[in-house]
Amino acid sequence: METTTVNSSKKWARFPGVALVVCMIIGLPQAALAVEAGDVLDRGADIFKTNCTTCHGLAGYPDPESPLVKSLGVLPANFSDPLFNSREPSSDWKIVITYGGPALGFSEMMPAFGESMSADDIDAVLVYIKTLGGEHDYPDGDLNLFLPIRTKKAFPEDEWVWKQRYTSQDGDNAWRNVLEYEFRIGRRGQGIFEITNEVQGGDTNFGYFEPGYKHVLKHDANAGFILTAAAQLGVPLRSKNNWLFLPYLAVGKILSDKWTFQGHGRLKLDLEDSDKHVAEFAGIVHWVDAPRPRWVYPALELVAEVPFERGSGANQKSAVQWSVLPQARIGLNKRGNIALNAGVELPLNDHDRYDWRAYVYFIWDFADGGLLEGW
Ligand code: HEC
Repeated sequence: METTTVNSSKKWARFPGVALVVCMIIGLPQAALAVEAGDVLDRGADIFKTNCTTCHGLAGYPDPESPLVKSLGVLPANFSDPLFNSREPSSDWKIVITYGGPALGFSEMMPAFGESMSADDIDAVLVYIKTLGGEHDYPDGDLNLFLPIRTKKAFPEDEWVWKQRYTSQDGDNAWRNVLEYEFRIGRRGQGIFEITNEVQGGDTNFGYFEPGYKHVLKHDANAGFILTAAAQLGVPLRSKNNWLFLPYLAVGKILSDKWTFQGHGRLKLDLEDSDKHVAEFAGIVHWVDAPRPRWVYPALELVAEVPFERGSGANQKSAVQWSVLPQARIGLNKRGNIALNAGVELPLNDHDRYDWRAYVYFIWDFADGGLLEGW
C-alpha cells in the first residue's frame, strides 16, 4: 500500500515537467501563429495607409468632401460598415485589388495592384480591410455558397430568384414557376416570400404563397461552417391544395479551396392530410476552384424523400425515394451576382413519379449591385 502511494506521488511529482513539455508542444506553435497573424495585420495596415487611404479613408470610410474622392465620380464603399464588410467574399475583393475595379464591373478609378504588390501583400491588406468592420455577428460572405436547385441555402442572402421546372411524364408534362424574394433582417435573419405558378394541360394556376423566416444558428468563417433553421408556411392559392408547414435545417461547409458542401433536412407537413407528410434530405457538392465569378461551376446533388405513408399494393412507394441532379452554376455578369443555374433531375427509384425534370433558375443577389451593374 505504502509503496503504491510513494510511487503515485512520484508520478505526480513528474507532472509539472510533463505539463511543461505538453504546453511547449501545444502552446508554442499557437504563440508563433498569433505573432504571425499580428505581423500580417500590421503589414496590411501599413500597406493600406500607403496605398489606399487617399480614396478609401483611414478608417475605411471615404471622405465625401475630399477633392480626390469627389473626382472619382463614384463614392467607394464603406469598409467600416459591418454588414457591407461581412458579406463581401474575400475572393472577390482579391480580384478587384489585383486586377482593378473593372475586373468585377466596378469603376476603373479603382487601380490594379497586381503589378506593384506581391501576392502576400495583397493577402495582408485583405486581412486588414476585413477587420475594418470591427467585431460583429454578421455571417461572413465566404459562407454565401451557391444556391442549389433543391438543397436549401444556409446563408441569409439578399436575392431574387426565378426558378422554372419542367417535368416530363407520359402525356402529362408540366411547368412550374417559382418566384422568390429573400431579404436580410438584422444580423442573422432573413425574410422569405415565395410564390408558385403551375401550367399543366393548358391550365395556369397559382399554387402556393409561401412566406417564411430563416435564422442563422451558428456561423464560423474560420471553420468554413454555417447552420441555419427556417420555416415556411404554404398558403394554398387554389382550393384543391392543402395548407403546408415547411420547417428545415440547412448547413453549409467549405471543404477546401476547391469544394463546398451544402445539405438540408426538411419536413413537408400537410396540415390537412397527415398521410401526405414527407421528410426530405438533400445534399450537394460544388466545385468552386475557378479564377473568376463569371465561370461555369458544376455540382452534383442528391435528394432523398421519405414519405410518412407509403400506401399499399402496386402503388406502394419505396421507403426512400432517391433522385440525382447534375447541374451547373453559370456566372452571367463579371461580378457573378447575376447568374443562372441549370440541371436535370433523374429518379433513381420509383420511376413512375416522373421521367425526368429540367430546372433553370435565374438569381440576382441585389446587395452586390443593380441588374445593370457589374457586366
Ligand atoms: C484612386 C482611388 C483609389 C485607390 C488608391 C484605391 N481604391 Fe479601392 N476603390 C476605388 C473606387 C473608385 C472603387 C469602386 C467603387 C465602385 O465602383 O462602386 C474601389 C473599390 C474597391 C474595392 C471593392 C469594394 C466593393 O464595393 O466590393 C476594394 C476591395 C478596394 N477598392 C480595395 C482597395 C485597396 C485594398 C486599395 C489599396 C491597396 C485601394 N482599394 C486603393 C478607389 C480607390
